[in-house]
Amino acid sequence: MKTYSIAAIPGDGIGKEVIAAGLKVLDALAARDGGFKLDVRSYDWGSDYYRKTGRMMPEDGLSQIRNADAIFFGAVGAPDVPDHITLWGLRLAICQPFDQYANVRPTRILPGIASPLAGVTAKDLDWVIVRENSEGEYAGVGGRAHRGLPEEVATDVAVFTRAGVERIMRFAFKLAQSRPRKLLTIVTKSNAQRHGMVMWDEIAAEVAKDFPDVTTDKMLVDAMTVRMTLKPGSLDTIVATNLHADILSDLASALSGSIGVAPTANINPERRFPSMFEPIHGSAFDITGKGIANPIGTFWSAVMMLEHLGEKPAAQRLMRAIERATANPDLHTPDLGGRATTDAVTDGVCAVIRADNA
Ligand code: NAI
Ligand code: MG
Repeated sequence: MKTYSIAAIPGDGIGKEVIAAGLKVLDALAARDGGFKLDVRSYDWGSDYYRKTGRMMPEDGLSQIRNADAIFFGAVGAPDVPDHITLWGLRLAICQPFDQYANVRPTRILPGIASPLAGVTAKDLDWVIVRENSEGEYAGVGGRAHRGLPEEVATDVAVFTRAGVERIMRFAFKLAQSRPRKLLTIVTKSNAQRHGMVMWDEIAAEVAKDFPDVTTDKMLVDAMTVRMTLKPGSLDTIVATNLHADILSDLASALSGSIGVAPTANINPERRFPSMFEPIHGSAFDITGKGIANPIGTFWSAVMMLEHLGEKPAAQRLMRAIERATANPDLHTPDLGGRATTDAVTDGVCAVIRADNA
């Protein structure tokens, strides 16, 4: 029997609630499947750890999780710790050194969930957004000088490298090729950003030659928001920079019903380092501790984790269970307009997993 080591990092706020729920579901799945085991180690890193130690994670944190087969991450962010400290101190402190350069964000309208777009159903909205996850606007290059003076200056430099752009384009083209429509939309802003974004477009066109069966089109990011809203059916696979895809994927999750159901995978495609799986939402101060966080985004992230580990039948079983749960309005949390608790949804999904014979 295969045993996978999973580093669980619940983090802050509802991250703790949804990761606890996710681990329960994974337990039920391993028990039902019988073919694999999960050896889960949990790490108490995050804002509580920061208040005690002045760091979001220990200095040797990366070496503690380097040999894990996957990382299962909740969320970071606390009202009393600046967001750039929590984000750079934990999430980006893992993504960047582990070279998880491909951030994959599937979006679909799950059964039983209504899109806020009138008349748009599951068949009209089925996307995967590929976000460049290592450079661009979040490269961390920049600085501040003359603090507090009238001539204070602050810069964040968007960094694009040929290697970085080419590898994300290849990843996105391969993913588009693996999907039935073989359609890739390349998001850009090369009208205004005439260096990095022009190179981005050029490299996309070069890589396209190696994928003659993939149809591509190019969209300026501002016009992309309009197309996502008015013609969702015209899109399939989407590739965008770190910042652009960050913004577009929040829009995508809202259009598919709720940010609470949206999953993501931070992938190191070469598998030199563990990849990290997390819901796309944050720590949600407004609902922390109320027991009503929607765990579906975390469960769907667990599906992506199982796929990455090579446990396809278990991944499919979990996805079926998620869809059975969302189809039942009694298992909708308040973000979906229902009254269910995190525990009720988790128990519901576990029950379906145990009963699933497909
Ligand atoms: P957020 O995603 O935490 O919350 C936005 C809204 O969506 C809130 O009204 C929240 O209640 C709701 N929501 C989010 N997840 C939900 C779920 N599972 N079920 C039901 N409702 C849900 O984003 P916000 O408020 O901008 O950020 C809060 C903190 O989280 C900040 O400190 C931010 O920096 C951090 N953050 C961390 C992320 C990460 O760790 N990957 C991602 C986004 C934000
Ligand atoms: Mg975001």
